Amino acid sequence: MPSLLITRPIGPDATAILEQSGFNLIMNPEDAAPTREWVLGHLANPDVHGVCIMHPHKSDRVDEEFLNACNPNLKVISTMSVGYDHIDVEGAKKRGIKVGHTPGVLDDSVADITVMLVLMTMRRVEEGIQIIKAGEWPTLPWGPFVMTGPSIGHPNLTFGFLGFGRISQETVKRLLAFANKSQPPTIIYNSSRARRNQQEIDAEYTKKFGVTVQRVEKDELAARSDVLIVLCVQNESTINLVNKDFLRKMKKSAVLINSARGPIVNSEDLAWALDQGEIYGAGLDVITHEPNVGPDHPLVQHRRCVVIPHMGSADFDTRIAMASRCARNCIQGARGEALEAEVP
Ligand code: DGY
Repeated sequence: MPSLLITRPIGPDATAILEQSGFNLIMNPEDAAPTREWVLGHLANPDVHGVCIMHPHKSDRVDEEFLNACNPNLKVISTMSVGYDHIDVEGAKKRGIKVGHTPGVLDDSVADITVMLVLMTMRRVEEGIQIIKAGEWPTLPWGPFVMTGPSIGHPNLTFGFLGFGRISQETVKRLLAFANKSQPPTIIYNSSRARRNQQEIDAEYTKKFGVTVQRVEKDELAARSDVLIVLCVQNESTINLVNKDFLRKMKKSAVLINSARGPIVNSEDLAWALDQGEIYGAGLDVITHEPNVGPDHPLVQHRRCVVIPHMGSADFDTRIAMASRCARNCIQGARGEALEAEVP
């Protein structure tokens, strides 16, 4: 019987959608990543016409081994994520397999957590928590300038974005609520997408946000940003993009936030930059080698660095919406229909 493979239970809403599809469901019974063997074994079953996968699971990485294991009837790989850096999209397409993802539904939640990291980093929240947990508060009583950090409402700040897609733009909207109203910030960004009529595009953004928005080259982005937010896709040209050279160009008072993918920021270089005072602080929702990052990691230890475990899209409504879209993409692909959201 035509079946859909689901590598992890994806909640009651999405499960109801899958159940109503008429496909037989082969769902990992454990609320945990399955073994690679479990995934590959089921992919070989000629009844499996579609598969729902999870981004962070090693078992679900779509590489040559995964694609070679797919039976010839498999028509769609649907990931419960907007990112698809874990998928060999070209390889899948060559085999006639569509790839679905979940753009749009997580913009708000990732923008929320990005702004949270901006505030936590500027206002030294990680340092404050570590001081209390280390029993050091009595040695650091309240004082006029104790635990002060840069002000988000400081006049004429520059917010910089590496990548200027939907999530960056939602983040801009939120940041503007905190910004200085009489001497508003400037937004600068770098985007690798080829843009025609750049001046027109920037004029449109400027109108949309009511503050100056301008595309700049990466060096200028590094040099001018007071708050630099990484929200670009991970690909060959962005891995290690934020390295020693880049960090050296940044202001010593600047904060760096990464809500995109860990490998875009070189962890060793970031730890160096924090130690040397090359930048003021950092806030990371993502980090290279996650989830295998322990308490001794230099960035986890660093008091000027907030590290949280890839939680950007982790609010209930967003995960329900992501799971539902993942289910619909899978059903549509398995039926041979157009996907609600296909990776381009
Ligand atoms: C995404 O949707 O890409 C999130 O980062 C979860 O992996």
